[in-house]
Amino acid sequence: MDRSVVTLDRHIVEQERRHPGATGAFSSILQDLALAGKLINRQVRKAGLVDILGQTGRQNVHGEEVQKLDEFAHDVVFRAMDHGGHLCVMASEEQEDPLPIPEEFPTGDYALLFDPLDGSSNIDVNISIGTIFSIHERVSQGRDGTRDDLVQPGHRQEAAGYILYGSSTILVYTTGNGVHGFTLDPSIGEFLLSHRDIRIPDPGDRVYSVNEGHADKWSEDQRGLVEHLKTGRERDGGGFSARYVGSLVADFHRTLMNGGLFMYPGNRANPEGKLRLLYEAAPMAMICEEAGGRASDGERDILSLNPQNLHQRTPLYIGSSDHVELAEERLAAG
Ligand code: AHG
Ligand code: MN
Ligand code: MN
Repeated sequence: MDRSVVTLDRHIVEQERRHPGATGAFSSILQDLALAGKLINRQVRKAGLVDILGQTGRQNVHGEEVQKLDEFAHDVVFRAMDHGGHLCVMASEEQEDPLPIPEEFPTGDYALLFDPLDGSSNIDVNISIGTIFSIHERVSQGRDGTRDDLVQPGHRQEAAGYILYGSSTILVYTTGNGVHGFTLDPSIGEFLLSHRDIRIPDPGDRVYSVNEGHADKWSEDQRGLVEHLKTGRERDGGGFSARYVGSLVADFHRTLMNGGLFMYPGNRANPEGKLRLLYEAAPMAMICEEAGGRASDGERDILSLNPQNLHQRTPLYIGSSDHVELAEERLAAG
């Protein structure tokens, strides 16, 4: 049993040694993201207090504007990442347009996309929420990056990861050399390696995760798929149990740890579903596939999709390979 204490920083140095192609640039990007995660974690852990303090008007005891946690998280990520000199442009779920690097800072070869706070509907009820990030190598020239650096297919991602503010705070990332998890030790403010080389269990748990409240808007095939998962005999691929948190980061992390099938289908009202391709589905797809699972839009690999715009949505079926394949088969059966 490896009992050594490996910090995120030490792990990154070890990875750099093992993969000479890995430049120091990516390592400092990840360290800056970890800092942002610690700052957001601190606010998340006292969100209830801030709310109470915030209810006495728009000021808290420090005279600070009480910001909605996702606006706060957006600001924290942007400010942690804007001066490192390794990014040429950023994009956030919270902002319609690409975010240029402020003039006073140098720019670099990577583009960062992020969902600063995923699961916003769960903030005020103390349910797990998260931050998701995706990193691409730039394709444009010149100081400032462009939309082209951000709107790239998932298979070109250099790295992807998330921070889950759950019963503990865990940072999970991949650069294509395995998926690794680091749990925050708040007493020393360090992310410590807790899950080396995560592999999604296969066969994974027979657990499906979908918001059945939207079932009336689903296609017949989608309804048939969920019915089969629930009532089909185990040997026919049925006999599933259900879990649904409503925060993608939490539902995905459970699926990565235990196996299972997470679905956010399209429906009559929203044929492309609700989840965003570039900073929700694609990073989770890179992580899941690197861990031995699969991610599909119901018929095509998420990582193979060619995006057209920054905030485009996609249906998502992600988790244990055999469960995703079962879903694709039944959706194709028609
Ligand atoms: P966000 O808070 O970043 O907008 O993301 C919320 C997403 C995702 O976290 C979750 O899987 C999904 O919304 C839940 O949607 P429903 O409430 O429609 O199930
Ligand atoms: Mn989200
Ligand atoms: Mn969000």
